[in-house]
Amino acid sequence: MIKISEPVIERGLLRKCTVDLKELKVEPFTMIIFGGAGDLSKRKLMPGLYHLFDAGDLAAGFSVLSFGLPQKDDNAYRREMLGALSQFDAAPGEDKWEEFSRNLYYLPSRFDDEAGYEELCRKIDKISVPDQSYRTNIIFYMAVPPDMVPLIVGKLKKFNLCKGPFNARIVVEKPFGVDSRSARELNRTLVDAFDECQIFRIDHYLSKEPVQNILFFRFANFVFEQIWNRNYVDHVQITVAEDIGIEHRGGFYERTGVVRDIVQNHMLQILGLIAMEPPVGFSADYVRDEKTKVFNSVRIMEGADIDRHTVRGQYGAGAAGGGPVVGYRQERDVAPLSLQPTFFAAKFHIDNMRWAGVPFFLRTGKRLAKRITEICIQFKQLPLRLFGTPCDPNILVFTIQPDEKISLKFGVKYPYSIDEIYPVNMVFGYRDTFQVKARPDYERLLLDCIKGDLSLFVRQDSVEAMWQIVDPINARWESTPPKDFPNYRAGSWGPRQAQTLIEETGRSWLTV
Ligand code: BG6
Repeated sequence: MIKISEPVIERGLLRKCTVDLKELKVEPFTMIIFGGAGDLSKRKLMPGLYHLFDAGDLAAGFSVLSFGLPQKDDNAYRREMLGALSQFDAAPGEDKWEEFSRNLYYLPSRFDDEAGYEELCRKIDKISVPDQSYRTNIIFYMAVPPDMVPLIVGKLKKFNLCKGPFNARIVVEKPFGVDSRSARELNRTLVDAFDECQIFRIDHYLSKEPVQNILFFRFANFVFEQIWNRNYVDHVQITVAEDIGIEHRGGFYERTGVVRDIVQNHMLQILGLIAMEPPVGFSADYVRDEKTKVFNSVRIMEGADIDRHTVRGQYGAGAAGGGPVVGYRQERDVAPLSLQPTFFAAKFHIDNMRWAGVPFFLRTGKRLAKRITEICIQFKQLPLRLFGTPCDPNILVFTIQPDEKISLKFGVKYPYSIDEIYPVNMVFGYRDTFQVKARPDYERLLLDCIKGDLSLFVRQDSVEAMWQIVDPINARWESTPPKDFPNYRAGSWGPRQAQTLIEETGRSWLTV
């Protein structure tokens, strides 16, 4: 009889993870959204909060107060948010909305007006519901341009809203600064008012179910972890391709560019999850420790290496969504001779024992051929050719969006052939298997923040380590202006040099 081995040990880490998750529950809370009448609120936060309410997740009690301009009263705000839901999500049921919107309030004030903060203190007293231990849980959500954050945090501190009588949390959206120096400065402002465990830095990529699945796939399956290293992996590719342009955000993009918008945060976070060591446990700091180690091990490129191993691009006119589209320089609020890159590709190395010698190719851009986010792990070639035809290497693909799936490519015998190998895919499709759509990004993050679970939020040391990887690239690119912009057609796969970058190593982009 075959003896099935016992699980090695029931590790404390698993128990810890379960206990941690169970202990965190939704308490009554008050969310103050600075800029609560703005775009982020309308597109993401309000639909997210409404769905949580509709699903019964906010039954403990809550209130949401928008702080900012323009002038309006509670009722006008409620009507505006109802309109936003209908426009960006789906029209809510009348009774449900009525019940939900009774908890929405509006406080018109400039962010620098201290009378507004005095009123805020009075409002909090009036609208907040204490939890069972008589604490008032407050979440300050910064849905404002990044340069407003220090001003608001300073006022919150002055009015004793950060620690003092409240159980307070602050949510900050990316970008966290524009380089390591400004990220440190922003952090000084934040930690002067809040403790690190009160600070929730959002990267919405971390809340995507298929992104979270990377850790489950890696650490819940014995087989793959054994081959997840330089001995078996030939190289890794991460593609975050968008078919949209910069939409209505010309001003923002002119200040930001592709590296600060996508690479420094979303892409490096994915790289961290793919490359990290197994964490001691799955609570926030264990996972964040391991990711930070990866960022600290990424080889920093300098000077000519940057020219050799990175590619920048900017889209010109072309076609997307079945019709012609303008180039970046013709978009609203963009300078006619702008040098801002909208495309990035690079070859990185992670100098640690697991990954030494394995190239990581990253590629992202606006107005590319299609919208797709994918991670491809190509394994090494077989050392022997036993069959007539050469075998394709095995490739493991995590498709994050738009169709969430994981697939493994391998070879089988072609019917009736003698020695022909035929490549096939074994596929796990998220929707087919679970018959549900993946939870929208912001819903999960809002819920975690309400519960106080920091696992999916970014820690300051990671933020700084990620900046250290991209700072030299930004500096090099800014000091050597490109001569060929725009250098790719909207609707294509980016500049030709992005193909060369990978093809000169004998490989090719797998996401097409
Ligand atoms: C945001 C960027 O963080 O992510 C946008 O600012 C980008 O430029 C967006 O379009 C992409 O997110 P998603 O979830 O649509 O892939």
